[in-house]
Order: sequence, then C-alpha cells, then structure tokens
Amino acid sequence: APGMNAAVRAVVRCAVSQGVECIGIRRGWNGLITGDIVKLDEKSVSHTINRGGTILYTARSKEFMTEEGQKKAVSTCKFLGLDGIVAIGGDGTFRGATDLTNHGIPSIGIPGTIDNDITATEQTIGFDTALNTALGLFDALRDTAESHARCIVTEVMGNKCGFLSLYLALATGAISVAIPEVQFDREYAIKKIRQAREEYGKRGIIAICSEGLPKVNGKNYGDDFKDQIIRETGIDTRFTNLGHTIRGGNPTLRDRLTASQMGVEAVNHLLENKSNLVMCVHENRITSCDINYALTLDHRY
Ligand code: F6P
Repeated sequence: APGMNAAVRAVVRCAVSQGVECIGIRRGWNGLITGDIVKLDEKSVSHTINRGGTILYTARSKEFMTEEGQKKAVSTCKFLGLDGIVAIGGDGTFRGATDLTNHGIPSIGIPGTIDNDITATEQTIGFDTALNTALGLFDALRDTAESHARCIVTEVMGNKCGFLSLYLALATGAISVAIPEVQFDREYAIKKIRQAREEYGKRGIIAICSEGLPKVNGKNYGDDFKDQIIRETGIDTRFTNLGHTIRGGNPTLRDRLTASQMGVEAVNHLLENKSNLVMCVHENRITSCDINYALTLDHRY
C-alpha cells in the first residue's frame, strides 16, 4: 500500500539513531523463511518517503501459515540474531506477527492496506492515498459520462470492506453505492437513476459497487447491475473496474505522516520491551493495542 516505504524509512531512521542495526526482510514472510534480506542503513531509505509500492517487495505466504514454515522463519530470526520485528501489512501480516511473538520473537504490527479494514485503527496506511487516486479517476470518468450522457457503474477494491467505496461515493456524488456490509436495494437505485435522467435531465451518472460483493449471473456484481440499468431504464451504461490502479502511486501527506509516526513509535515500543502490539490511530493520535484484540474486531459498516 502507498505509504509503506515511509513506514520502513521511519523504522530504519529511528532504530539507527538509537544504535540499533536494521535489516529489511524482502517479500513478506516468504523472505523470512528463505532468508531474503537486505541490510538497511540511513542512506538506503533515502528518497523513499515519496514512493508508492514497497522497496522491500511483498508476497502472500501460504508456507508461513504452516507450523513448518514458522519454524523455518524462527530459525532465520535466530541465525540473524533478530531482537524484534516490525511487520507492515493487513490482518494476515498481524497473524504472522503474533505467531512469531509466540515463538519468542517480539513483533509489532503497522497497519498498511488500502482497504482500511483493520478495526483497531481509524486509518490504515494507504487508505488516504487510494481514496485520492480514485477520486482523480472518478473525475475523469465523469467527463465521459457527462459528454456521452452515460451511466458508469464502477467497481472499487476493498476486499470485504466497503470503506473505500462508501467514502468515494460521498466524495464523487455517486447516485448509489453497493457495499458488502449493507443490503443493496437495487430497485430503489434503478428508480433514482431513472428519475435523475427523466425528471432532472442528468446526463452523467456514476454508480459504485464494491469489489467484495458476490458475483451475480457469473458476472461481477457491478457488471450485472449495469445490465439491469440498461434493461430497465434504457440508459447507455458502461461497467468499469478501477482495479489495482488505486493501490499504487505516491503516498499523500496524510499517509506519509501516519506511516512516519507509526514507524517511530513501533521502534520505541520494541526498545521498551513491548511486543505483540499493533500501531493505531485513535482520535488523531498514535496509540497501540494488542494484536490479538485487533484481530478479533470487525471493522465494517
Ligand atoms: O488488500 C488489498 C487488496 O488490494 C484488496 O483491496 C483486494 O481485494 C486484494 O488486495 C487484491 O489482491 P491481489 O492483488 O492479490 O489480487
């Protein structure tokens, strides 16, 4: 997620300034299993605060979910003499961090995902950037919708969490938004779309559907909704998917700031012998809570 580099940078700079040696583990937990590491000093994180993606790369690790994989990771930790780990990611990452803590390796999590689906924190790193990137794309879509007098049904990422779609619907003036957490009244949405065109002469119409909705008639939810709009209103309608586009790009000020603050606090926590915590934003302040507690919460509208 955008902002992860800012977090890595803050961890490294804070640790090094306190006399702690730092290494980066590449490709997520996979890298810990295979020993794919890189030494990080103050200079190696130079000019990264503004970069999207992650300089450490990432991967989803099935092997780390097994006892065998974890044993390999722990032996890498021992071999390298790691005193603590800062893990940046979503709930899968935190489950890994708690597993490592249980194996005697102190670990702290930093929430990095565009989905904002970590309950314990009001904001995950990457969420703000993804919203702003998507906002620009929606403004561009509106130009076509307006020019061609079209309705554009747009799918937005977010896994099973509707935050991205909901916030974007409010900020773009979408006519409707369908998210996994709330029953979507398709008939009412169709009525509003028809009304907007027939009664108010609205040319460009944007409807948003979240990625996590179930498929309908073998199609993405939004694609099927598009068919229904055409069938029932006759309005020229297109389906489009913002897809992975919103997971990249330079992080916003807000994401850089939160990532930097969390990175520093994560290191300070480890130096104070604290472990198994996840960094959080609560009422605009950086706090932390137990990872196991964070994992049990469900952050959904
Ligand atoms: O968690 C971030 C996210 O981008 C989700 O919004 C999405 O459901 C998922 O990852 C996509 O994963 P992948 O890139 O592996 O297809």
